[in-house]
Amino acid sequence: MNVRQGDEIKHYRTVWMEGTTVKIINQHLLPDEFRIHSCNSYLETVESIRDMTVRGAGAIGATAGYALAQAAVESFNLAHEDDAMYWKSVSDAVQRIKMARPTANALFDAVDTVYSNMSTFGKDTNAATLRSITAAREYADADAEACRMIGQNGADLVQRIMLQKSLPSVSILTHCNAGWLAFVDYGSALSPIYELKRRGIMVNVLSDETRPYNQGSRLTAWELSNENVDVEIIPDNHVGAVMAKGLVDLVIVGADRIAANGSTANKIGTYTVALSAHQHMIPFYVAAPLHTFDFSLRCGREIPIENRSPDEVKWVKGVDENGVRTKVRIAPKNVSAMYLSFDVTPYYFINGFITPKGVFDPRDIVTHLAKEPEKAQPVYGRDI
Ligand code: MRU
Repeated sequence: MNVRQGDEIKHYRTVWMEGTTVKIINQHLLPDEFRIHSCNSYLETVESIRDMTVRGAGAIGATAGYALAQAAVESFNLAHEDDAMYWKSVSDAVQRIKMARPTANALFDAVDTVYSNMSTFGKDTNAATLRSITAAREYADADAEACRMIGQNGADLVQRIMLQKSLPSVSILTHCNAGWLAFVDYGSALSPIYELKRRGIMVNVLSDETRPYNQGSRLTAWELSNENVDVEIIPDNHVGAVMAKGLVDLVIVGADRIAANGSTANKIGTYTVALSAHQHMIPFYVAAPLHTFDFSLRCGREIPIENRSPDEVKWVKGVDENGVRTKVRIAPKNVSAMYLSFDVTPYYFINGFITPKGVFDPRDIVTHLAKEPEKAQPVYGRDI
């Protein structure tokens, strides 16, 4: 998407590869500073995923794909003509990259996709390495295109809802950041919003701040205001109250991993938003590209959930009134804190999935989206 820098407007993707360097937008510094971070080795790229310099399911996936391409180049330089050594080094890198973060399915999908593209070359390690680079680029391109399509399908859906309810304008609540920064371009939950804006629809967004990393107040608010979309940040504890006041027409959130029964892992707090939407009979939609669906998991309980450091809850980063970056503690030093990075929203609170292929009911996703529907064994019930 476009980024304004002084008088200039420039198109950026969240992640790309230049030579053997992986470049990412540094998401720690936003919204106060727009800076590109260079990862000069695959291990630096893995670290940038782990420490959330780059974050968001699709962006993590594309970055992981590029990390494997980088690892292939490094393995080629290390192993010279020794193909056994080359493949050992590449396999080690596959394992290392997959350990960067556990929840977003895109990370695993990207690494497997790039690896399967290169593995057919066997002894020709030169060709395998070149293929890894193109496969990583193709993966990133496909992510961007999938998000563009989500924008079209999601905007059509919102316009249908507006028509049914005779709404002259629409107010959408979102959680975390499922915008272009969370993908390669366009975003998932925010892509329909950008498309509605392009279509001339009056749209207003309520963005949960999403403690403790504050993806909503830092990143979603920054993205939307860059595109001149009306956005208002709400503290996470306002969700019930704004819904009760009738300020929300529908909810669109992103997803990190979706099990075969449709239960969805997304940023912590999403489940509470879904409960509240259910209580107030507000439609709740999840926008996601196909790499988010993991049909090997029967239900949401099987999704691996990341635990992050309690320090990320107890310390807050930002800029002071002079614009100087600073970090302050907001809790007693010796008290423990819990930080489950994701929660799981049961499929029965989800009205539909907005995907590049269309909008689907949770109970229909296996039929419409699984590559091998006969292998998927969704578990439905009152559990997640
Ligand atoms: O911990 P993050 O910021 O990497 O979390 C992932 C997410 O961006 C959100 O859960 C988002 O809503 C999912 S869509 C990419």
